[in-house]
Amino acid sequence: MAEEVKAVSEEDAVISLQGVGKRFGERWAVSDFDLRIPRGVTYGLLGPNGAGKTTSLRMIYGLTEPTSGSLRVFGKEVRENVRAVRARLGVTLQENVLIENLDPRENLAVFGRFHLLRGKALRDRIEFMIDFLELRSHADVPVRALSGGYKRRLAIAMSLMNDPELVILDEPTTGLDPAVRLALWERVRELRARGKTVVLTTHYMDEAERLCDRVAIMSEGKCVMEGVPSELITTHLARETIEFDCSVKEEGEFLRPLEDPRARVRVGRRLMLYADDTGVYMDRLHQREGADCRPFIVRPTNLEDLFLSVTGTSLKEVE
Ligand SMILES: Nc1ncnc2c1ncn2[C@@H]1O[C@H](COP(=O)(O)OP(=O)(O)OP(=O)(O)O)[C@@H](O)[C@H]1O
Ligand SMILES: [Mg+2]
Repeated sequence: MAEEVKAVSEEDAVISLQGVGKRFGERWAVSDFDLRIPRGVTYGLLGPNGAGKTTSLRMIYGLTEPTSGSLRVFGKEVRENVRAVRARLGVTLQENVLIENLDPRENLAVFGRFHLLRGKALRDRIEFMIDFLELRSHADVPVRALSGGYKRRLAIAMSLMNDPELVILDEPTTGLDPAVRLALWERVRELRARGKTVVLTTHYMDEAERLCDRVAIMSEGKCVMEGVPSELITTHLARETIEFDCSVKEEGEFLRPLEDPRARVRVGRRLMLYADDTGVYMDRLHQREGADCRPFIVRPTNLEDLFLSVTGTSLKEVE
């Protein structure tokens, strides 16, 4: 467990996992997961397809029982307190759970009643959520006729009906257009400003970098890195990235006479080199190519670079 996470006391932690594992048949989807998420932060669970993110969230929500370890939410062991924990928690699953023949307003009403909202309180909450997720133009359209993005917005609205202290969002912005994605980020920031704890998964590293106070990067069921995104980047990779296309053979020739960079990542023909000063590589590219300099990009190293260098770049599925 990272030192900073250990520093979050058990009382301050909204979510606390100790040695949590989940086995399906012979395979451990999640193993030996230690995590403490403090109150009021936006926390990102990152990892390639099949890394164990959804399984971890399902255990936190009490949908899946851990095979091993201790999992506490609001200080309570989840398996013994599923109802009490869920009452204070809102969840948007990776797959939308909606009633297809009802419209958004009716869906929200069903969910609100489930959470014991009635009368004016229920009506007010529905209208608030319709505005919060910008659903008004489609509030009377049956769910089956909504586009994927509107269904996603409605699913998120549903998870917030009970004004939960802890909000769990499994890939909330997958399939959303850029404007809606940005609007949703604002909503997440608003929730955070109101003291809510938000735990989300995303495959968009720009989103994680901008939105999350802390992230855990999972790979093959294990947490391989944990911390503040900007600190993780500067600790593990160099400041600058230079990227260009080249073959594996060229890479050998190009790098041999130079001091190795702290890390490099290849995705197909694209090579990314991380260095505190990429000038030396730029000079080298100019020399090699003469007037027809090979196109390259120099940019600040970001969370996606770290993610790729930690989890690998092949099409990875733990199967
Ligand atoms: N009910 C299940 N039965 C058997 N295996 C499962 C089950 N649920 C998940 N798994 C396996 O557990 C592993 C982790 O799956 P999980 O859905 O948690 O990954 P993920 O990180 O959410 O991936 P993605 O980014 O694709 O959503 C995968 O190998 C998956 O096939
Ligand atoms: Mg998932």
